[in-house]
Amino acid sequence: MTSTQQHPPAGASMRFDDWRLGYESQRREEAYWLDREAIVGTIPAELQGTLFRNGPGLLDVGGTPIHHPFDGDGTICAVTFRDGRAHFQNRFVRTEGFCAEQAGCRILYRGVFGTQKPGGWTSNAFDFRLKNIANTNVIYWGGKLLALWEAGLPHCLEPGTLETFGTDELDGAIADTCAFSAHPRVDPCSQLDGGAPCLVNFCIKPGLSTTIWVYEFTTDCQLLRKHAHSVPGFAFIHDFAITPNYCLFFQNSVSFNPIPFALGLRGAGECVKFQPQKPTRVLVVPRDPARQDVKVLEVEAGFVFHHANACELDEQTLRIDSICYADFPKVEPGSDFRDLDFSALAPGQLWRFTLNLNAGTVDRQLAIARHCEFPCVHPQHVGRPYRYLFLAAADRPTGTAPLQAILKYDWETGETCLWSAAPRGYTGEPVFVPMPDATEEDAGWLLVLTYDASAHRSVVVVLDARDLSVVTDLRLKYHIPFGLHGTWTPECFVST
Ligand code: CO
Repeated sequence: MTSTQQHPPAGASMRFDDWRLGYESQRREEAYWLDREAIVGTIPAELQGTLFRNGPGLLDVGGTPIHHPFDGDGTICAVTFRDGRAHFQNRFVRTEGFCAEQAGCRILYRGVFGTQKPGGWTSNAFDFRLKNIANTNVIYWGGKLLALWEAGLPHCLEPGTLETFGTDELDGAIADTCAFSAHPRVDPCSQLDGGAPCLVNFCIKPGLSTTIWVYEFTTDCQLLRKHAHSVPGFAFIHDFAITPNYCLFFQNSVSFNPIPFALGLRGAGECVKFQPQKPTRVLVVPRDPARQDVKVLEVEAGFVFHHANACELDEQTLRIDSICYADFPKVEPGSDFRDLDFSALAPGQLWRFTLNLNAGTVDRQLAIARHCEFPCVHPQHVGRPYRYLFLAAADRPTGTAPLQAILKYDWETGETCLWSAAPRGYTGEPVFVPMPDATEEDAGWLLVLTYDASAHRSVVVVLDARDLSVVTDLRLKYHIPFGLHGTWTPECFVST
């Protein structure tokens, strides 16, 4: 039995112009304590630490629009909660490309998702340089604040001021691959390390066959394990999931035609074509480098950007929960992403996959049909059985629409609970912060950077994860464009 709780009531639809406003570039960079009037409700005294969050801050360069939000320069937000007060700051990652383009006031690099230099195809053909835009995620690990973008090195920032130090090879650990995915996972209790937490991440070296590198780091960012595995075929892999013994990757069936990219007609990411009639390969890679027995299973699946979580039910049975699309969403050359026709897009839906390693089979089951994205779980349950999943979701139960709600899903009862910011509010990724000393899996807060179109500003909403009631709203001075991923640290960083 599924019940849906909704506050405020459903039915209010979004205004298209509102949604577009959320994609306006934000050039302001400020650091300030929120004053009393900007805080609605009370910040819990036990909520202490910093939410770091990344996303594209510029949707144009010198007035020339970029083609896809994924091509926008990364801007880092830091929201610090300390003693019932809140501090906000945001700053661009000073990448080499950002500095050069801002100094020249024009686009100097092609973007992976279709942004081209001015001057038509002749000025873009055979320019294969990538601009590391550092815009996808940000983590605080081993005393370093790292802005992540999957096809390049992390950028290291000063956590108090968000000043950019430059790219970071993690003490040489990733000097050879020069890439580090934007979706590291923290194993809260690594079996291979006597129960100590560790950071697990990967990178992809694409080609006719694909090499997947897996890295694991101690809490002080020392390399524990590093190994590479080659799989046949091209792969576009944005995210993965971990269990105590395995890394799980979905190799969606895609083809890559590099010719339009080489000729300056399309971005490299626009040359990826999803082949829905072919199966997805599930790659099961042991985390122990002494084991080389990579298993490959096949399943019918949609295109996957994000996995929610995975776990081991027994030695031969693994489970993974993922958001799947029936097609790879794309913005055609010559069109504007702000004119996106949502009704033509497939929704993201949550599926549960059960893998039998002995039989080599995969079963799948649809769990949530409502359009959803950006899954998150309690950090102590990463890689382990869990009950509650939190996601950003559409306000309406059917069709594809912008994310305006937060959804809680209970795997045990199938019940859902929804908090909606519609009609004029927009959500993004929820970040779960456990309540200190609590034992229940949903005892915590969800931090969500939302956009309020009625005031054209962003609001940090703190929800009680047990019932999705609003604990407090932090009304920021200005808007931050719709963004991507973030992480929480219990350390408090402020610049003022
Ligand atoms: Co992502």
